Formats: sequence, C-alpha cells, structure tokens
Amino acid sequence: MPTRKTFALLGVAGYIAHRHLTAIRDVGGELVAAMDTSDSVGQIDAHFPMARFFTRFEQFESYLQALKRNGTPVDFVSVCTPNDLHRAHIEAGLRCGANVICEKPLVLTPSDIDALIALERDLDRCVYTILQLRLVPENLALRDEFAIPCAQKPLVDLTYVTARGQWYFNSWKGDDRRSGGIATNIGVHFFDLLGFLFGKLETNVVHHRAVDCAAGYLGYERARVRWFLSINARDMPQPADNEVACRRMTIGSRICNLSGDFRALHTLSYQNFMDGRRVPLDDVRRAISTVTDIRNAPINTAVGDPHPYLARILNDQHRYRDGFPA
Ligand SMILES: NC(=O)c1ccc[n+]([C@@H]2O[C@H](COP(=O)([O-])OP(=O)(O)OC[C@H]3O[C@@H](n4cnc5c(N)ncnc54)[C@H](O)[C@@H]3O)[C@@H](O)[C@H]2O)c1
Repeated sequence: MPTRKTFALLGVAGYIAHRHLTAIRDVGGELVAAMDTSDSVGQIDAHFPMARFFTRFEQFESYLQALKRNGTPVDFVSVCTPNDLHRAHIEAGLRCGANVICEKPLVLTPSDIDALIALERDLDRCVYTILQLRLVPENLALRDEFAIPCAQKPLVDLTYVTARGQWYFNSWKGDDRRSGGIATNIGVHFFDLLGFLFGKLETNVVHHRAVDCAAGYLGYERARVRWFLSINARDMPQPADNEVACRRMTIGSRICNLSGDFRALHTLSYQNFMDGRRVPLDDVRRAISTVTDIRNAPINTAVGDPHPYLARILNDQHRYRDGFPA
C-alpha cells in the first residue's frame, strides 16, 4: 500500500486555505502541521484535527526541521500567505526538505524566480504553483486552436470586473507593496493564460493604473490584447443588473466566459503535482515579468489599442476621494 503523502500549510486561517485543505484530503494526503499568525483556524477540524498548529513561524519551522532530522520530512509545504511572503515561505519549505506548492502569484519579481530556480537545483526539490486557468478544458482547446499564427493577429478584449468591498483597501490585498496591486494580485491568472494561449509577449503598454483598476495593451506573438481589470462596482457593464462580476474574454466575435466554477481545480492541480506534473519556473516567469512591467511602466495612453472601458474611467470625475474609490 502506498504511504500517504504528508503536508504542512502556511496561512491556514485564510480564505484560500480551505481549498488547499480539501485538495490535500482529496489526494489522500495528511496535514501534519499548519501555521498562521491568526488563530481562527477551526476549518482545520473538518479534515485534519490531529495536525499540529503554530502561530509562530519559528516554532513551525523548528517542528519541520525536527521531522527532517528524524528522517521523516514532510513531502509538501503549501503556501497560502500574502504574496510578499511567498518567496521566504517557499525557501523555508525547501530547506525543511519538502517540495513546495505555492499560491499565485508565485513571487513578485523575476529575480525571485531566479533565486528559487537556484534553490530547487541546490536542494533537489521542486516548487509548484497554482495556475488553475491552464487546466480549464475550454482554455486547452483555445490553446490548440491558436497554436498556429494567423495572417492577421486576432484582437482580444479581456474584461474582468469583480466588485470588492471597502475592506479590500484596508487589507494586505489593497497594499501594492504586499500584493503587487490589482494587475499582479488579480491579473496574474489572466496574464499567465494569455501567454499560454498566444505565445511570447512583444509589447506591454499601461494605459491606467490605480488602486481599484488598471488597463493596458499587450502585443503577443499571436494576438493583440486590450485588457481591463477592476474591483470597483462602478465598472460593471450594466450596473442595473444584480451581478457582482463580469469575467469575459472576447476573441474577435467569440465570447469566452471566464466565470466557471473553478473550485475543483485546486484538487486537479494537486493531483498533477503528486504525479510530478507542473509548470516549470522558467515558464511561470513569463507572467511574473509581465505583471512586474505593468507595475513599473510609465502610463502611456498614446500607444496601443485602448480597451473600450478606458475612456469612461478617465472621464469619471467622481471616482476617487483621497486616492480611494468614493
Ligand atoms: N488561486 C486562486 O484563485 C486564489 C484566490 C484567492 C487568493 N489566492 C492567493 O492565495 C494567497 C492567500 O490569499 P487569501 O485570499 O487566502 O488571503 P487571506 O488574507 O484570506 O489569507 C492569508 C492568511 O495568511 C495569514 N498570514 C499573514 N501573515 C502571515 C505570516 N507571516 N505567517 C503565517 N500566516 C500569515 C493571515 O493571517 C491569513 O490567515 C495569496 O497569495 C492570494 O494571492 C489565490
């Protein structure tokens, strides 16, 4: 009988940790240790009441190091902490003798990726990241369809509006230094998907960048993309509807819905990882470079096709008060 894979999890009290706990259970794994600076961790009980829990990183790490010294290192450390902590938490997991599964964005800059590649090599361990949109069957079909360059590159509109409340701006997610800003925190899924579908990125122009929305133009090997991301309810296409989200990609006249129920994709990701299937870090680097450039690029509305929603944002005089959504 194969032995159960063992896991430890960082950030176990948070929103996304629940999906990781479910995925660990679904792949037949066992959570042996977890850590969070918050002790609101009752969700551990649903599957792993025997797991050790720590509110201090040092004690968590010391426990994992002891397991390693005893010849029973955990097989995987899962990282579900704020984005700016990912690199340090991944490195700690690798040093404890584990492979690491980390939430998106894997890290905040391409140089972080370089450091992880070097550490993977030195420690002979692997880093896996959750890029669940690559696993959606419709997206895999699109990738096949657009694998060969067309004479005329298709025009793609990516429109993603998911309203978030005021809390967002007072959490780590609303702090650019911690989350990377919305193009990094929310957009990285889509920028990864666009590279997966349309190949190498050749042009990256930013038309707008604010706490609640960002927009720009991306020229890929096989498509031209106008993108718009927002967490502000004002940007819903038809605010009269009771919908709280618009997640859409149009390719020419074709509309692709990005609103599926993606909850099961964490389990599918874990199953792939258990079988050793992953997106290599060199490939993960593409989307991380894209979002790093979007964070740092000057705003330039004179170049690249603007997304159809951009004008409305730029003309909205009442949108912000003291730099935050009114
Ligand atoms: N794949 C997806 O669809 C998806 C969706 C949401 C979030 N995420 C990613 O998952 C990660 C967590 O996001 P979330 O929405 O669960 O955020 P969250 O704020 O709900 O959870 C983060 C948790 O980390 C804990 N934490 C903070 N500092 C810590 C530290 N130093 N040590 C240990 N724990 C610490 C917090 O107490 C909190 O419980 C982020 O990287 C985010 O980008 C991915």
